[in-house]
Amino acid sequence: MSTAGPIGVFDSGYGGLTILHELRAVMSQYDYLYLGDNARAPYGTRSFDVVYRYTRQAVASLFERGCHLVILACNTASAKALRTIQQTDLPLIDPERRVLGVIRPTAEAVGDITRSRHVGILATTGTILSRSYDIEIGKLHPDIQVTGQDCPMWVPLVENHEYDKPGADYFVKQKLDEIMQRDPAIDTIILACTHYPLLMDKIKKYAPQGVTIVSQGTWVASSLDAYLHNHPEMAARITRGGQLHCLTTENSEKFDATAHHFLGQQIKSENIVLG
Ligand code: DGL
Repeated sequence: MSTAGPIGVFDSGYGGLTILHELRAVMSQYDYLYLGDNARAPYGTRSFDVVYRYTRQAVASLFERGCHLVILACNTASAKALRTIQQTDLPLIDPERRVLGVIRPTAEAVGDITRSRHVGILATTGTILSRSYDIEIGKLHPDIQVTGQDCPMWVPLVENHEYDKPGADYFVKQKLDEIMQRDPAIDTIILACTHYPLLMDKIKKYAPQGVTIVSQGTWVASSLDAYLHNHPEMAARITRGGQLHCLTTENSEKFDATAHHFLGQQIKSENIVLG
């Protein structure tokens, strides 16, 4: 067995930092290696083949840097690449390593939240078109009616630091109005894109009263915590010490300036090239 390594956390850009934040809150004992493919974000409008290729490159890079466990902290990558990586790539690369996504833990948790059994999913165009949430929630909670709505402008608002500016209000209100018109019985809206929690204040401002807005970070963290308790052989392959190192495919100063808004701490990232 090769030596232990950090937990790899991958996102197309900054969004996965919202998941990383929750992972570190619940499992502070582990080391983490974050990779943001900021130079090629957003992934949400890219084709299946491209998202799969980019995600596979990112996973390979995290494996090369010693990770035995990689979390795709990106719904778009989880929707479009996870299954193929798990079924086709992992058996060839190293059947002992694991790649996990964010959709399954979210689908599991939503059953306990909704009372009306009408759930709205806000996500990138890629995630919505993949129908991954409809499928996963349908398998676990067939009584829940799922309405998916893509929000193509939301990731650019976050990636370009516009999420807390007045201009963002228009785009947030527009999509909340749209999804609530399509199913007024929705009582729970899932932010199924890791970038969207940054827009939480505005989303709460424009969501109808009584509608619960949920982000997935805490669910993903508690699911991973349970996974590692059930798989001590994997937990033993993770280094401990609470260290975080960040990699970005963009300029590292630019990454550091934005990442600290997500994590509340100073970051000194390293630039890498994928592909
Ligand atoms: N943050 C990613 C997600 O959860 C995707 C953002 C993007 O690159 O479009 O879907």
